[in-house]
Formats: sequence, structure tokens, C-alpha cells
Amino acid sequence: MSNAASIETALEHLRRGAVIAMPTETVYGLAGDALNPLAIRQIYALKGRPAGHPVIVHLAPDADPSRWGTISPAAQSMIDAFWPGPLTLIVPRHSRVPDEVTGGRSTVGIRMPSHPTAQAILTAFGSGLAAPSANRFGRISPTCAAHVKAEFADEVYIVDGGPCAIGVESTIVDTTGSRPAILRSGYVLESAITDLVGPLGTSTTVAPGSLKSHYAPMTSLRVSAEPDAEARRLEEEGLTVAVYKAPSPDEHAKQLYAELRRLDSLGVDVLVAEPAEDTGIGIAINDRLSRAAHRFSTTDN
Ligand code: TXA
Ligand code: MG
Repeated sequence: MSNAASIETALEHLRRGAVIAMPTETVYGLAGDALNPLAIRQIYALKGRPAGHPVIVHLAPDADPSRWGTISPAAQSMIDAFWPGPLTLIVPRHSRVPDEVTGGRSTVGIRMPSHPTAQAILTAFGSGLAAPSANRFGRISPTCAAHVKAEFADEVYIVDGGPCAIGVESTIVDTTGSRPAILRSGYVLESAITDLVGPLGTSTTVAPGSLKSHYAPMTSLRVSAEPDAEARRLEEEGLTVAVYKAPSPDEHAKQLYAELRRLDSLGVDVLVAEPAEDTGIGIAINDRLSRAAHRFSTTDN
């Protein structure tokens, strides 16, 4: 199916309140009409996500964000600098935003994606689309259409927009406190945000998706700066091991989730992952790796 035809089919689904999977520059999202509570409930049901987890509203390039929430001067300067792009802003919500979207909170997460297919869908739809990452709750986010298919088979209509250019989820900034605060690291770096709005605060808000255990493969995962030595040690214990070596910094985020999925399918006992250098996008990569590893940690549950 051509891209245009597949976007048209996706719109038919969205207009009747159904859920679709669509590409964004970060990861694929499971999208539904942000003003239709029934569509949002379907997203939760598909993901197996507990209630009370808010979802991000995605906006078209020509959308007015103040239709969804209150935009502070700091939020506006981040919008001017980073939208469309991989930045989600938490703002005080507009009263018309359903509780299903916000998890009953007084705030809403909004973002304007830069992926042309997402933009085409949003522009034609003419309103916001609520979209969490298109994976089952707690699992690895999808960075291509085949990953979504592996998660949901034929349960959702998938618009294939190719592999995601960035590969890790958007940076989330809470703008509701006296100073903006980062809730999740991503491609938009802390340094770029402080250059723009000055020193950051700490947020009392916890993004429920920032559970210590998240983004996880089924196979037990360990992070080690000496992955080969760690793998040998584990093999001596009688375990089968696959090693994930950090690729070049430019490629790393783009490949991360695809590689974790591939290694997860090998059927070994343990995955050992080499961390990224802890600068730039490497900060977000290491954050995701440590969450992927966490549920198997014996010291801290
Ligand atoms: O890159 C992304 O952000 C992707 C693509 C599809 O846009 N979406 C994504 O959504 O990662 P999700 O639902 O997997 O993660 C969104 C995170 C969750 O941790 C959620 O708790 C948090 O954003 N969040 C959303 N609205 C919030 C709010 N009002 N207050 C606090 N956290 C919020
Ligand atoms: Mg997610």
C-alpha cells in the first residue's frame, strides 16, 4: 500500500475511535483520538498498562498548544527552539482534556513530532492524538514497523514509516514548577535546555513510566563496562550469554532497541550490555539500559 493510502486507512480507523500504530522520529506510538476516552481506554487495554499512567498528546505542526494546556514563557521558549521534535512538555492541562489522557492529573504531556508521516496523519486528523510507545507495558519500545507487528500482530493497523531516526523516547520536561525539570532524558539534552531557560529545578512529579524497571527484554540483562570479561565469568558459571557491544555514538540510540530485541530472541540465559559513554545521547541510552537491567537486579527491587 502506498504511504498516502496507508495514511488514509489510518485516518478511517482514528475517526471511528479505533487505535493505530504510527511512526515518530523517536519510537513508534499507539495512537488514538486524544479527546475520545474510549479510544484512550483501548490504548491502555492493548498495552496492558495500569490505569493512572498518563499518555502524551501529539500535535500537528500547525496546532495551537494552548488548546491543550497553559504554556508558560519557559515552555514557549522550548517550543520555539525544539518543536517539532523529540521534546515532551508537561503543562497544566486544559479542562477539555479527558482524565483518561492525564491519568486524572491536573497536567498534560504534549509534543509535536517531526516525523513527516506522523505530521501528515496529525494534520489530516485535525486534532491531538494520544500516543504511548507501541509496546506492551514495561517492554522494549518499537523503532520499526516489524517491532510493532511482533508486539501486536494484527490487533492494530500499522502505518510503516521506516526505522525511527532517533530511536529513544522524547526528553520530558515538567514546566509546572518554579523552574523546568527533566523527567526523562532523551535526544534534547539538558545542556541545550539550560542554555535556553537557565538552571533547572527538580520536579516533585514522577512520570509513572520512569519506573526503575522498564524498557526490558525478556532475557535477564546486565550492564558492564567490561562486557567480554563479564560474559566469560557468567559462562564459567554455566550460563549461556550474548554480548551487546556499544556501537559508534552516532548509531547507538538508533540501533539500541532493535539490537536488544534481536539478542532477546536468541534464547540465551543472560545478555551483557556495554554502556554508552555518559555524555550527549549516551545519557538517555544508559538510563534505558539501567531500567532494562533493573528488574533482574537482586540487590534492589
Ligand atoms: O518519544 C516519545 O515520547 C514516545 C513517542 C510515541 O512520542 N512516546 C512515549 O510515550 O514514550 P510513553 O507513554 O511510552 O511514555 C510517556 C511518559 C510516561 O512515563 C508517562 O508517565 C509520562 O510520559 N507522562 C505523560 N504525561 C504526563 C504527565 N501529565 N505528568 C507526568 N508524566 C507524564
Ligand atoms: Mg513507553
